[in-house]
Amino acid sequence: MSPLLPHLVLYLLLLTVVTGETLQPRFYSETCPEAESIVRREMKKAMIKEARSVASVMRLQFHDCFINGCDASLLLDDTPNMLGEKLSLSNINSLRSFEVVDDIKEALERACPATVSCADIIIMASRDAVALTGGPDWEVKLGRKDSLTASQKDSDDVMPSPRANATFLIDLFKRFDLSVKDMVALSGSHSIGQGRCFSIMFRLYNQSGSGKPDPALEPGYKKKLNKLCPLSVDQNVTGDLDATPQVFDNQYFKDLVSGRGFLNSDQTLYTNRETREYVKMFSEDQGEFFRAFEEGMVKMGDLQSGRPGEVRFNCRVVNRRPIHGLLEA
Ligand code: HEM
Repeated sequence: MSPLLPHLVLYLLLLTVVTGETLQPRFYSETCPEAESIVRREMKKAMIKEARSVASVMRLQFHDCFINGCDASLLLDDTPNMLGEKLSLSNINSLRSFEVVDDIKEALERACPATVSCADIIIMASRDAVALTGGPDWEVKLGRKDSLTASQKDSDDVMPSPRANATFLIDLFKRFDLSVKDMVALSGSHSIGQGRCFSIMFRLYNQSGSGKPDPALEPGYKKKLNKLCPLSVDQNVTGDLDATPQVFDNQYFKDLVSGRGFLNSDQTLYTNRETREYVKMFSEDQGEFFRAFEEGMVKMGDLQSGRPGEVRFNCRVVNRRPIHGLLEA
C-alpha cells in the first residue's frame, strides 16, 4: 500500500466536510412530505396570533445566513462555554419570535422526528412570511444542516448598524456575493415589520454628530417620528418600517422616494446615486421588486460555511453526543 494512501483518504474525507451540503428543492419529499405544509400552517397560526411575528421570523434568515452561513447558529442559546448570537449588538432586545420557530420545530418533530433541520425551517418560514403577507411565493432549496456552535463575536463584527450608509452596505453585501441590486431588493424586506426608537434616535436628534436631524427626512414624517420617539422616550417603543407594515408590497420604496424611510440605512438607499436607480425602479414596478427579492433570498439562502453539522432535535441546543460511550451532560 502506498504510504500516501492514508493521507489521500483523510484529504477526501475533509473535502466532503468542507464543501457543505448540496441544497435542492423538495429535499424532504421522501423523508417528510408534509414538511413545507406544516411550516406554512404554523406560520399562518403565528400571524393570526400576532401579525408582526412573521416579519420578525423573516428577519432571522438575514441574521442567520450572514454569520457563517444559513446553519441556525442564531437560534442557539448561550451555554457556560459559548456566547451565542442572540445577545450580539444587533440582536439583543431586537430579534424576536423565536417561539414561533420552536412551535414549527415541535410540529415537525411530531410528524417526522429528527429529520428537518432548524436551518431549513428558517428558510421555509421566511419564504412563508412573505407569501402570507401578500408578497411572492417561491420554491426554496433545502437540505441544510444545523451548526454545532455559534459566535457572538462574528455577529458583532458582521451585522450592520441602522446607521450604516449605502456605500458601506454595498461593500458588506458584496462580501457575500450579493450585488447592489440584491442588496436594495433585500432591504425591501422592511416592507413588513417594525423597528425601535433606539434605532433612529441619532438620525432624529444628532445625525453624524451634527446635533441636527437627518436632512433627508421629509418634514411631516420627521414630526411624526419626533412624536413617537421624543428624547425622553423608552427606546423600546416601536414604529412601522413603512406605511403598510403588514403587507409585503413596494410601498417601502415609494416611502423612500418621498423621504419617509424609517431607518437611516433605508433612506440612504435613495440618497446614494448607485442605489437610487433601483429604489426608483422598485417603487414604480412591484413585479420587478418581487422578482429581485426572490432571487436575493435564494442567493442569501445558499450561503454555507462548509463546517460539519447535524439535524438538531431542539433548535436552541446542540444534540447531546456520546463521548467515550457516555452522554455529555
Ligand atoms: C441592508 C441592511 C440591513 C440593515 C442595516 C437592517 C437593519 C434593521 C434594523 C435596525 C431593524 C429594526 C431593529 C430594531 O429596531 O429593533 C430591522 C428590522 C427588520 N429587518 Fe432589517 N436590516 C437590513 C437588511 C435586512 C434584510 C436583508 C432582511 C431580510 C431579508 C431584513 C429584515 C428585517 C425585518 C423583517 C425587520 C422587522 C422585524 C420585526 O418587526 O420584528 N433586514 N432591520
